[in-house]
Amino acid sequence: MTENREHWGSRFGFILAAAGSAIGLGNIWKFPHMAGQHGGAAFTLVYLICIIVVGLPILLAEFAIGRRTQLNPVGAFKALSGNSQWKWVGLLGLGAAFVILSFYSVVGGWTLKYTYLALTGAFSTFSSENNVAAQVFNNFISDPIQPIFWHVLFMGLCILIINKGVKGGIERWSKILMPLLLVLLLVLVVRGVTLEGAGEGLRFLFAPKWGDLDAEGVILALGHSFFTISLGMGTMITYGSYLRRDTDLLRAALSVIVLDTVIALLAGVAIFTAVFALGQDPAEGPGLIFVVLPTLFPLMPGGAVFGVLFFFLLFVAALTSAISILEVVTAYFIDEKGWSRSRATVTFGTIIAAVGVFASLSLGDFNVLAPLGDLTFFDMLDGLSSKYLLPIGGLLTAIFVMKRWGLTNFMEELQAGSAWFKLPQRLVWGFFLVAGLVVAYILFDEVLGILV
Ligand code: TRP
Repeated sequence: MTENREHWGSRFGFILAAAGSAIGLGNIWKFPHMAGQHGGAAFTLVYLICIIVVGLPILLAEFAIGRRTQLNPVGAFKALSGNSQWKWVGLLGLGAAFVILSFYSVVGGWTLKYTYLALTGAFSTFSSENNVAAQVFNNFISDPIQPIFWHVLFMGLCILIINKGVKGGIERWSKILMPLLLVLLLVLVVRGVTLEGAGEGLRFLFAPKWGDLDAEGVILALGHSFFTISLGMGTMITYGSYLRRDTDLLRAALSVIVLDTVIALLAGVAIFTAVFALGQDPAEGPGLIFVVLPTLFPLMPGGAVFGVLFFFLLFVAALTSAISILEVVTAYFIDEKGWSRSRATVTFGTIIAAVGVFASLSLGDFNVLAPLGDLTFFDMLDGLSSKYLLPIGGLLTAIFVMKRWGLTNFMEELQAGSAWFKLPQRLVWGFFLVAGLVVAYILFDEVLGILV
């Protein structure tokens, strides 16, 4: 075990950094638009159940694997399996990091651009009709230059933070940015619930109407629980590897899950109260935030300020998640290949940014996948990662704990540093089995969906 490996400065810092990874575009952008399209409260409830049943065991597994080995995901699987083929689970995660970050950073760039638009007062010219906002949004994302400029800027910020290392970069910035995020969101929630007619938005989000939930909604809720807690590609193994053994993993995992869920629900409240109070369509889809909200802000008292706050908040959330993805790649090249931190960060940050350029261009006139059909390169990266790579990674991690590392070893690591009562091993085994079966079911369903 590496003695000179960097470690988190405090347990609190670790929890904020892990929560910073979990809380991102998934919570504030993806969750509301998916809930809006798939039954509101009913979708929310299924998603919450999945977080507990699938998310918690796999998050604990990743933390434990990382802390035990003090290594990046590839090194960690190698170390615990005696250098067998299990290292491929780590390599799969590394591949997923490239895939996810290249499109995530493009959307991160959009949040920067919208913060800038809000600052310059551009929203005030958007009418209450969706058309103008939709046109501005579509023109922007399909432009060959504009979104790439913001994407490269976003990636540059990522590189700068990761280059500063674990304590001085990730932890320091998470400690500033995450509490700021919570405060900004609370301000927006107060703004939302005090709008006239906000009650309807709350009912939409919290009072289930089961008839509105379709089969696709259930599958999406399951898949989203992976994405939102950053599971299935070794992010949480990497963050766990910077832990000392005195941290209570169960408490840390529960904190991350609760914070992540609270932020998603707060974002839902802020958005749906505004959408309903101002008579907009909750099922607008992925444009919900970028198209609907900029038309809402000018109609609210103080909307100019709230517009700036909202998009800045979204940018902050995206940034603390994006750095957690780049850190996986960086840790691998430091641990396994002996590279310096700055060489690893700059090299792979640049490569990922270059792939992202093609993701962004694919939303305009240059889609590298065009010869194959309608699918954009951007959507392909998104679908490939959240539908396949993450669930496969998560499933293999659960199987690894049960079959290779062994539940006894896992439990020993889990309970080091824990003041909790000893969990019965059978119960934990049951949790892993259920988690594995649920994920296997999602994958099976998706593959069948392709075949049929
Ligand atoms: N969880 C983040 C979000 O909700 C995104 C993210 C960060 C992620 N790291 C990840 C997703 C690793 C999957 C795997 O936006």
